[in-house]
Amino acid sequence: MSHQVLLLPGDGIGPEVVAQARRVLDAVADRFELVVALDEANLGGGAIDREGAAYPESTQAKARAADAILLGAVGGPKWDGLPSGDRPERGLLAIRADLDLFANLRPAILFPQLAAASSLKAELVAGLDILIVRELTGGIYFGEPRGIRTRDDGQREGFNTYVYSESEIERIARLAFELAGKRGGRVTSVDKANVLEVTQLWREIVSGLACDYPDVALEHMYVDNAAMQLVRAPKQFDVLVTGNIFGDILSDTAAMLTGSIGMLPSASLNADSRGLYEPVHGSAPDIAGQDRANPLATILSVAMLLRYSLDAPEAAAAVEQAVAHVLDAGLRTADIAAPGEQAVGTRAMGDAVIDALQAKGGKG
Ligand code: IPM
Ligand code: MG
Repeated sequence: MSHQVLLLPGDGIGPEVVAQARRVLDAVADRFELVVALDEANLGGGAIDREGAAYPESTQAKARAADAILLGAVGGPKWDGLPSGDRPERGLLAIRADLDLFANLRPAILFPQLAAASSLKAELVAGLDILIVRELTGGIYFGEPRGIRTRDDGQREGFNTYVYSESEIERIARLAFELAGKRGGRVTSVDKANVLEVTQLWREIVSGLACDYPDVALEHMYVDNAAMQLVRAPKQFDVLVTGNIFGDILSDTAAMLTGSIGMLPSASLNADSRGLYEPVHGSAPDIAGQDRANPLATILSVAMLLRYSLDAPEAAAAVEQAVAHVLDAGLRTADIAAPGEQAVGTRAMGDAVIDALQAKGGKG
């Protein structure tokens, strides 16, 4: 069976990191005899420049046909002056909505080789392995009405709508319970139920599902406390499930605990396990085109793509092992190098991962 994979290199360092991830995907497909058909399209700022829209129709047609999508990053100062509805980021929101990618999985894993890079004390983060499950196609990001209007007294006011339906809450919560059942067996549902009705409903629905997952322990936590606990004692968490905006914020916090946002992959899945995979980091325009970006988050996104959309868990594990191997061997891009440590470039890091993959040899 041939798998259709669409590459969306995007802006800034996106094309460089996707180029390395693509080479890794080719190498792993070769080793595990997977047939992968690659195509490429525009998303974000480059799409605005070349096709006049952040999520052009040509990209939409290819995205709808793909089994999986690998995205680099979107956005950059060149497009910062555009009105918010026309910015590159809107392309990302549009593809999430178009493909109904409601489930955003953001692991925050501490690579033992990089423990010193964390902003927290080593003992607080040693062995850290959190999975943030963020609802991605609802909540205040998409709620209507929204806008900026002028009031009767002449002042302008901005407004958004924070809304979740029962079914939206249920599908993301069920996924969190299922994923927790396959790992630490604990779900922390994050809300602001002491203030916001929408998250009172969230808490009620999540609580009602718990009886279907007797092996998973559920706790609820207010978002302000969750933010505090993440930097106080992050290892108390296994799976965190939350809505779109809280997940956006908490996942950046969790990423920083690992000390290396350049290492973290993510998956955005729909109900058919078709998905969009992307590094958690942004387009880093300040280092774009200099062969300095860390490609490992995008390479690890390939591993997630293999696991969740191509149903190739062994190939996924091989990619993850190859990454661990290059870290063990001491290779570091500039973002994860200790002071005084020699850094390698984007392409050399890609080469090393491919060498490690091929050195393992065999046919899985
Ligand atoms: C993310 C990003 C996006 C988001 C932006 C770029 C729209 O911050 O994926 O976390 O807020 O979802
Ligand atoms: Mg974010």
